[in-house]
Amino acid sequence: MAKPARETAASTPTAQPSLHELGRRLREVEAQGLTRALRPIGPANGPRVTIGGRPCLLMASNDYLGLNQHPRLAEAALEAALTQGAGSGASRLISGTLDAHARLEKEIAAFKSAEAALFMATGYMTNLSVITGLAGPGDLIVSDRLNHASIIDACRLSRAQVKIYAHGDADEAGRRLRENQGGIKLLVTDGVFSMDGDLAPLPELLQAAQANGALLVVDDAHGTGVYGKRGRGTLEHFGLTPAPELVMVGTFSKALGGLGGFCAASRPVIDMLVNRARPFLYSTAPPPAQIAAALAGLALVDEEPHLRQRLHALCGRLREGIGRLGLRVISSQGPIVPVLVGEARQALALAQALLERGVYAPAIRPPTVPEGTSRLRLTVTAAHAPQDIDQALEALAGAVREAGL
Ligand SMILES: Cc1ncc(COP(=O)(O)O)c(C=O)c1O
Repeated sequence: MAKPARETAASTPTAQPSLHELGRRLREVEAQGLTRALRPIGPANGPRVTIGGRPCLLMASNDYLGLNQHPRLAEAALEAALTQGAGSGASRLISGTLDAHARLEKEIAAFKSAEAALFMATGYMTNLSVITGLAGPGDLIVSDRLNHASIIDACRLSRAQVKIYAHGDADEAGRRLRENQGGIKLLVTDGVFSMDGDLAPLPELLQAAQANGALLVVDDAHGTGVYGKRGRGTLEHFGLTPAPELVMVGTFSKALGGLGGFCAASRPVIDMLVNRARPFLYSTAPPPAQIAAALAGLALVDEEPHLRQRLHALCGRLREGIGRLGLRVISSQGPIVPVLVGEARQALALAQALLERGVYAPAIRPPTVPEGTSRLRLTVTAAHAPQDIDQALEALAGAVREAGL
């Protein structure tokens, strides 16, 4: 008779209680249909990629203008790395502020019509820096219920009082602001909500902020380069001109094709961040290649406006087609096209059926979105051709039938 396998230390609850508990928690996540796994994506040729060895049409990237593969960005990054080195050597306040940072920050400020700007390694880090740099104990942050995770994390880290208002409800935001007197008040919103694709009511929110002595922080990660006649973002879309109360956050990692976050605002806001924003202060500065790609991406928003026009035409084509399939799309415009499914397992089944038909779009489930609102999140980029959109629609029709929706 075979001897029973010896228990290893990792599998013995008493020897490794923490690892054992992690295993138990992971099984709990799995039982809820919420397991997440990393999915390597092979070399891209426009929106055509390889997933699990199979060619696939990618309907999942936030590279809205298709700049990620623009030769100008790659050439600029290469040249900068070759001539200036691969790293920056220190944090910005030590010796990491390069001439290139100063140049990029001037360009960002001009792009957003702001007094000053600050560039950081990522958009996530920018939200942490801006919110914790501007508000602390004794201050108030009023935040939309569906704001991005980086804003939620920043609010927690700030130790300011945080009040959440119903999604897109500017009246409630105003009421929440009025409940506190004194201290700094921040009203914080995504410009475009990343999982729903809808726009914040910025004119009303700006009015609420101004009427209550607050700063309005707009995280336009998904709006910059996409919305507004000149691609300046959702503020331009609504015809708002930058006011001193506006703190404009953005990222280079989506429509601008590279990586890095920024804040553009009035001078006291930027000076405060340089003095107090710990994520900015205690991290090594972004390197020359990242800066060079960011500069190129910013320039291309102006030089290639046809990319934005093409993007919006493709969005219309996908949205109309999905409407014909009788599916419910959560938002009414733009390149984030979330198809509401409901239960997490059904959303997974739909994404899997789509993948089997050669199209990749992820199922978005709790905790990223509220319980019962799992969805398939399709995104459109200017790198798609009209035929790609038609292919995605045909695959979606088949996947919906197979998933029994
Ligand atoms: C609304 C929003 N803000 C911030 C971020 C973070 O930006 P980054 O990817 O540059 O860290 C994201 C997504 O990644 C986002 O969707």
